[in-house]
Amino acid sequence: MGTGVSREPGGVALEAAEVSRKATLSDIGAMLELVNGYAEQGVMLPRTEFDLSENIRDFTVAYAGDRLVGCAALHFYSPQMAEVRSLAVRAEAKGTGVGRRLVEALVEEAREFGLDALFAFTYVPGFFARLGFAEVERGLLPLKAWKDCMRCPKFASCDEIAVLRVIEPERWEAHHGAAGLKRGDEGGELIFPVLKRRGGEG
Ligand SMILES: CC(C)(COP(=O)(O)OP(=O)(O)OC[C@H]1O[C@@H](n2cnc3c(N)ncnc32)[C@H](O)[C@@H]1OP(=O)(O)O)[C@@H](O)C(=O)NCCC(=O)NCCS
Repeated sequence: MGTGVSREPGGVALEAAEVSRKATLSDIGAMLELVNGYAEQGVMLPRTEFDLSENIRDFTVAYAGDRLVGCAALHFYSPQMAEVRSLAVRAEAKGTGVGRRLVEALVEEAREFGLDALFAFTYVPGFFARLGFAEVERGLLPLKAWKDCMRCPKFASCDEIAVLRVIEPERWEAHHGAAGLKRGDEGGELIFPVLKRRGGEG
């Protein structure tokens, strides 16, 4: 990974080289602080120590020196598809490319596992658009409602946006036919073909 230098006014400059690696159990304390700080602001789902311990192998973490600056998880839903979960970058490291590098690390991991696509539910679709994700109908995405959504305080009035990045277009099309992509990238270049909906609608 590259070097992060804070752009946030008043933030702590991140001078140490930033590295990413798979998380270990010893990262959990710092990850809880980061993720639950954002959960208190209502922008992420809260996580417990048990959640993180149970799913620790999903996580990649980014460090500047001995300071956790970001984390993100790749959570499998099917042999074809996984979710980007619990993506968080420390406030003073925002805008320095940590989020991008974490998502790209998950994409690389997804390729190694032979997945066809990644999805996320998010309040920051603009960030995901920069990473080649497109907005999709949430009905395209698997089983999510029966897991995280059931314990979400916004269950009855969910306003998160579903986004999807196809990483293996041919395999994706073979499994799913038309993808149902609703809107494309906001300005950047899509790195997968925009597929047609079933029934021919664009
Ligand atoms: C969203 C978040 C992960 C972005 O991380 P980041 O490290 O600041 O993002 P990066 O610096 O890697 O930015 C990558 C690209 O996305 C853009 N971007 C970053 N945040 C954005 C936002 N909120 N809206 C639109 N675009 C955004 C950047 O300008 C950059 O574009 P470029 O490479 O074309 O110049 C971070 O702001 C965060 O942790 N937010 C709070 C928690 C959260 O909302 N998590 C997402 C849960 S799904």
